[in-house]
Parts: sequence; structure tokens; C-alpha cells
Amino acid sequence: MTSTPSARAVQQYAGTTGNLTARIALHSYGTNPQDWFAWLAARLPAAGEVLEAGAGTGKLWTQVAHDRLRLTLTDFSPAMCAQLATVPGARVVRCDASGLPFAEAGFDTVIANHMLYHVDDPLAALREFARVLRPGGRVAVATNGRHHLAELDEVGAAIGRGDLGQWRFQNDFSAETGPGLVGQVFRDVRVERYPCDLRVPAAAPVLAYLESMAAGPLSAPERSAVQDIVQARIAADGVFRVRKHTVLITAVR
Ligand SMILES: C[S@@+](CC[C@H](N)C(=O)[O-])C[C@H]1O[C@@H](n2cnc3c(N)ncnc32)[C@H](O)[C@@H]1O
Repeated sequence: MTSTPSARAVQQYAGTTGNLTARIALHSYGTNPQDWFAWLAARLPAAGEVLEAGAGTGKLWTQVAHDRLRLTLTDFSPAMCAQLATVPGARVVRCDASGLPFAEAGFDTVIANHMLYHVDDPLAALREFARVLRPGGRVAVATNGRHHLAELDEVGAAIGRGDLGQWRFQNDFSAETGPGLVGQVFRDVRVERYPCDLRVPAAAPVLAYLESMAAGPLSAPERSAVQDIVQARIAADGVFRVRKHTVLITAVR
């Protein structure tokens, strides 16, 4: 059992892209016809020197034309960096977000999409983002609220797997606390909520999500219990409803 945000992130991401890919797949059941990555991309600059820290599988850039950007993609995970190397035109650098191997003031934009809650000291990472941004450059940080996907945490708890709860191994960089932390390092902080919830039509995507949190298969009785809970909700409501709370925090160096 891991005990710090960074140790949990290593366990989840260092050797595989599979856990992240399974979780991204669940969001295909979103109620917003514009998916998260398209919504985010519409709020990012179309040109300039851009750094994404903790870029994961690079999903953002597979959906977005980035031919006018000079793109640097970083992640601390060897598995993620191998995947990032397939993004056309991108420079890929494996490094920790809290110690970027780049000169001061070299970037126009730094993006941290759903990654600051994985670092042990998010304020230190934000200071590092400020260091590599030029004066007037922008940071774009996405994170979730405390009740984001609460229904999935509740399913985990109901089958005796409260350890799968999303906040258990994350720091408190959330929609509630993030703007204040960003404001300690940057000016002109703005927050925009992505309007979307999930309407999941079957138990399988919920199982896949919970197994990604467990980084392995649930037991047969656990799987059966998840299926019973989700199927009962679908029988009652037509779908399994899951609340989302995701925000984009932008600010200026
Ligand atoms: C939830 S995933 C998000 C990936 C991507 N930004 C996206 O939204 O699809 C978090 C990513 O941050 C990376 N990560 C976690 N802690 C990190 C750190 N301290 N430095 C760099 N990358 C980190 C993980 O390897 C993982 O790829």
C-alpha cells in the first residue's frame, strides 16, 4: 500500500498507460457533446512555445491541431513518455514537474492537466512553472472538485473497497483549493467549470474504472457486487448517473 501522492502516481503510471486509458474511457459517457479535451483545447493558445507537464498519453494533442505550436511534452513515467513520442512534432522530455530541466522564461504557456494532485508539493511545482514561463506567459491547470465522481467512490465503499476512493492518495489540489494556491504564485487567476456529468449505460465501464484504481482485477465477489449495484441503478434510472466537477484554472506570470 502506498502512502504519498507521488508514490501512488508511480504505482499507477510508471509502468503502464492502461490505468489512465481506462479512466479516460469512462468520460466518453459525458453529457457535454464537446468532450473534455476539445473543451480544454478551445481555451488554449493556438501558437507559441507550449509545455505540458504530466502529459500522460498525449490524448489532448491527438485531438487538437498543434502545427502552429512548438510543443514540449513531459511526464515522469517512462511508459507515458514512450506513448508521447508518437505525438507528431512534439519534443518529449522525461522529468518530474517539480524539477523541470528547462531555462527560465522559455515558454509562453504551461499546461498541467489533471496532474497537480499527484505531486507531493503542488506549490513547488507551480513555482517551477512560473520559473520557465516568460513574464506575461500563462499557466492552464485542470483539476477536480471534492465531489467529482463521488458515486464511483460510493460503489467502492459499498463493496468494502473504500481504498479505491479517488482522494485517498491525492493531495488537496482541488477545484476548491487550487485557485488560492495558483494565486500565491500567479496573478489574474480565473476559474471556469466544464459543464458535464456522466450517464453510464452499463456496469462494465464502472468495473474498468474501479479496476484501474486498484491497478488490477477485483475479486469475483467484488465484481459481482459492483454489477448488482450498477444494474440496480440502471433499472431504476435508465442509466448510472455520476457527477463530475472539473475546472480549468488559468493565470498570468
Ligand atoms: C491523471 S494523469 C493525466 C495525464 C494527462 N495530462 C491527461 O490529462 O490525459 C496524470 C499524469 O501525471 C503524471 N505525473 C504524476 N506525477 C508527476 C510528476 N511529479 N511529474 C511529472 N509527471 C507526473 C503521471 O505519470 C500521469 O501521466
